[in-house]
Amino acid sequence: MSQHSIKIAIAGVGTVGNGVLDLLLKNKVIEKYNISIVAIASRRKIRRNNIKLKNTKIFKDAKSLLSFNDFDVLIELIGGEEGIAKEIVFNALSKSKRVITANKALISKHWVEIKRICNQNNSSIKFEAAVAGGVPIIKIIQEFLSSNKISKIYGILNGTSNFILTDMLSKSLTFEKILKKAQDLGFAEADPSFDIDGVDTAHKLSILASLAFNINCNLKKISIEGIRGIDLVDLKYSYELGYKIKLLAVTYFKSNNLLCSVYPCLVNQNDIIASVDGVYNGVVIESDFCKKSFLQGEGAGAYPTATSVVSDLISISKKDTNDFNLNQKIIKHKNLKLSERFGGYYLRFSTIDKSGVISDITKEFKKNNISMKSMLQRDREPGSRNATIIMTTHNCYEKEIVNALKKINSLKNVIRKTVSLRIENFK
Ligand SMILES: NC(=O)c1ccc[n+]([C@@H]2O[C@H](COP(=O)([O-])OP(=O)(O)OC[C@H]3O[C@@H](n4cnc5c(N)ncnc54)[C@H](OP(=O)(O)O)[C@@H]3O)[C@@H](O)[C@H]2O)c1
Repeated sequence: MSQHSIKIAIAGVGTVGNGVLDLLLKNKVIEKYNISIVAIASRRKIRRNNIKLKNTKIFKDAKSLLSFNDFDVLIELIGGEEGIAKEIVFNALSKSKRVITANKALISKHWVEIKRICNQNNSSIKFEAAVAGGVPIIKIIQEFLSSNKISKIYGILNGTSNFILTDMLSKSLTFEKILKKAQDLGFAEADPSFDIDGVDTAHKLSILASLAFNINCNLKKISIEGIRGIDLVDLKYSYELGYKIKLLAVTYFKSNNLLCSVYPCLVNQNDIIASVDGVYNGVVIESDFCKKSFLQGEGAGAYPTATSVVSDLISISKKDTNDFNLNQKIIKHKNLKLSERFGGYYLRFSTIDKSGVISDITKEFKKNNISMKSMLQRDREPGSRNATIIMTTHNCYEKEIVNALKKINSLKNVIRKTVSLRIENFK
């Protein structure tokens, strides 16, 4: 790499790509860090109305970058775990170039392979924008906390789901209505499944866990549940009990045992993570010396994500080579199952309003070492024989809850499948 100038090639000029170009050109980052944009691969028309793009090569297809070599850093902003994004990233790394990407799916799936190519070719990759758009979580793990031992990470990593859960409660509207609103506002895709089914969160969690614990944590190792089934009544009852429901990514690593899960759960309203509402992302990292670190910010969008991409470029311009534990050997670990989770539970029973129902339920609790923490019972609707009973439990093993619910759901006075949600108690 030339000492005085960094030559960059940008692939993909969509939402994030446009944001990156705007930031580089409007805030004079180009001049300040002596960067030249030598190539842009874009299927959309690029206007060369900025003098800084006068000599830039414009390719219609990123495939052209495979045979183009006159650059130091490839910025990949196309997306997708396979296809052209993978081709150009792997090609650039094998040519000993630096790569910056916002592509969580690619990093999450090919972590081990990317690491191998980087090691073999003395190349490197940065991916701050891949997790929580405008929140510098990767740098915090790689740099600020690199002296510490990280034991646990949890947080809200998907703005769309967080917006839906926040608005359902505050506007008292159903999941379907708020999802439609999110789509109209552009916060949710036409096909929202990646966001609301927890897959997007899981991609990001796998990257954080792999990086923080120096393991290989891909999607297969994560149990994933989304927010499609969340009912407005549970948001309301939880709030009454002092909780909010959030789609949480949770991972901890102890004695080479890894738990890595994405699920909607109750968090205490006083917990720092409960204050992360709307489209915001928030992450808590627990480590041995620094204790609890909390980061919050815009999780996506053109400009926050562009800020992360450009921050990686600035790090490269300052000759920062600390990419991702390149020389460290990946630690082998055992994956804990959710049935081994030890924690609290929120349960909503739909029953016939009859004496003896609660004792039938608590009998099953006793058999499975479950102890009740609190209970709410609603007056039944006029003319209805049905009752709703809400219980929270003290900490117990998930397998005990599953066993108890199997029996409880088959009781003759229990008329619907019991709703069960985990409660996360963060100290
Ligand atoms: N959007 C966000 O807020 C956000 C936040 C964090 C991370 N990310 C990540 O950033 C990446 C980009 O996301 P995005 O939202 O910017 O997506 P996008 O708006 O769809 O942009 C991708 C661009 O790449 C272009 N493209 C596709 N194939 C190409 C090819 N062969 N040659 C040249 N250009 C090609 C697309 O062209 P067409 O328009 O013709 O399809 C599109 O303009 C993804 O990995 C995403 O996960 C996005």
